[in-house]
Amino acid sequence: MKPRLILSIFLIIYYFAIINAYSHTPIVGRNGMIVSSSQLASDVGIEILKKGGNAVDAAVAVAFALAVTHPQAGNIGGGGFMLIRFADGNTTAIDYRETAPLSATPTMYLDSEGNIIPDLSLRGPKAAGVPGTVAGLTLALDRFGTMDLKNVVKPAIKLARKGFQVDYGLSQDLSELREDFLKYPSTAKIFLKNGMPYQMGDILRQIDLAKSLEHIAKQGAEAFYHGPIAKQIDRAMKRDGGLISLEDLALYEPVVREPLVNHYREYTIYTMPPPTSGGIILCGLLNALEPDDLRKIGHNSARYIHQFVEICNHYYADRAFFMGDPDFVNVPTMGLISKEYALKIRQSIDPERHIPSQYISHGDSVWLATYLSRPQESDHTTHFSVVDRWGNAVSSTYTLNDSYGSYYVIEGCGFLLNNEMDDFSIKPGAPNIYGLVGDKANAIQPRKRMLSSMTPTIITRDGKLFLILGSPGGSKIITSVCQVVLNVIDHQMNIQDAVLAPRVHSQWLPDEVVIEPLGIPADVVAQLQSKGHTVRRGYFMGEVQAIMVDTNRGLLFGAIDLRNGNSAVSAY
Ligand code: DON
Repeated sequence: MKPRLILSIFLIIYYFAIINAYSHTPIVGRNGMIVSSSQLASDVGIEILKKGGNAVDAAVAVAFALAVTHPQAGNIGGGGFMLIRFADGNTTAIDYRETAPLSATPTMYLDSEGNIIPDLSLRGPKAAGVPGTVAGLTLALDRFGTMDLKNVVKPAIKLARKGFQVDYGLSQDLSELREDFLKYPSTAKIFLKNGMPYQMGDILRQIDLAKSLEHIAKQGAEAFYHGPIAKQIDRAMKRDGGLISLEDLALYEPVVREPLVNHYREYTIYTMPPPTSGGIILCGLLNALEPDDLRKIGHNSARYIHQFVEICNHYYADRAFFMGDPDFVNVPTMGLISKEYALKIRQSIDPERHIPSQYISHGDSVWLATYLSRPQESDHTTHFSVVDRWGNAVSSTYTLNDSYGSYYVIEGCGFLLNNEMDDFSIKPGAPNIYGLVGDKANAIQPRKRMLSSMTPTIITRDGKLFLILGSPGGSKIITSVCQVVLNVIDHQMNIQDAVLAPRVHSQWLPDEVVIEPLGIPADVVAQLQSKGHTVRRGYFMGEVQAIMVDTNRGLLFGAIDLRNGNSAVSAY
């Protein structure tokens, strides 16, 4: 052999050895896959698929199971969004976000001098919006599932009644929150053992929750919104000073919405429209980055991060001004997700210098609001992700807001209420728990949905299912999802590498780039600082639950996001 040929062969072998050394292998399945924040819940989903259920049956079963095994965020006392793509290519979106109670007012969390009353929008019964989860899940099952509610809720009832082993993460949480839980006897009864934290390996049985789930299995959403659970919520609210009334519950309705559709390179992005900001911002970010050769710029190089965060700041400024519940305010969605608007944003970016947030404002209201009248482009163009053997896919994010929501359990029902009211703009310009600011568009009004950042997303290529993903993480949900999409599409990472790659974030206010604790080298930070950025090493961001589909080979690839230690893929 010629020396040159030998050298080439050596270099090729060396290259693949290096690639493999730094690459992580996804979990592979063929007939179905569930990625969620709990192994027990993912396994419940797979059992449903094995019994012949479709992706919606499995998703609903996973959601009820998560309400038992992942009480941090899994819930029946919160709300969320579910995006579904059917094997025939049709898509739909279910909005089961919470609403403000009828007696809520724009200034309900302020004192007589207009100052925010600490913690009122965050803890205790007053922090809760009217829950949407049970209505949303039962609607999804009724319309798009194939199995009986009874059979789909059964695994969750079993997990609640028989209990499950508390793992390290849950034991840590429950011990850290002991003092907070002790403030609410109904909560302490469920999540503490005689006032003391559960230890790793203890069995957590949730008998009251099992009873609530049994009511739901028998009577459906009726049980929660009109029946025995509604009565118990009403009683607890009256006793403990909450706002949710029988009328609020009776009036709650999930909404079926048209997913947002956007095109990024040769891919089609389906994602959630308002009342979440997630879909709009994800589409905007991708539109504004599309003209760049991101692979050439280099993943997580200073130039790449600069471009990404400068664009983020514009869309987050738009979030603060324009976005809210579309049933109450006109959100200029089509303008915001247009390629023309993305171009305007690109043109305002200085590749060498960070533009401080005080110089960035929302886009031109009139231009954005009238965008619809312009020629449109052609149209060819605790998150859990589920795919079944027929190619139906569900991407759903639901929440209590932050971990364990309001910390308040409804007496006798065994479930935590959300603290989602804090996602409203409780005072113009005042940051919420995620540092997000807002104004009139997201002010509190009775029955209005609070603005979210949840971003359940499904991506296709050439009309074939390609990627199903979403994440928790408050304001960082959107940037986490976006970076995983870019990692797959532009940086050609496998799904596991794409999920593990270090993330960055910026949200206009506060004016800073947050980077994950590991993986962004000091010289990149120094280069960003020299461009005028304030860089802060923060915590890990998001927990992306993603499935990549290779329709040609008939394979499903699932990724575990190690950031929170919960992420679990089940496949068969
Ligand atoms: O709807 C929202 O945007 C927030 N309530 C989501 C909260 C969240 O992701 C908490 N997870 N870390």
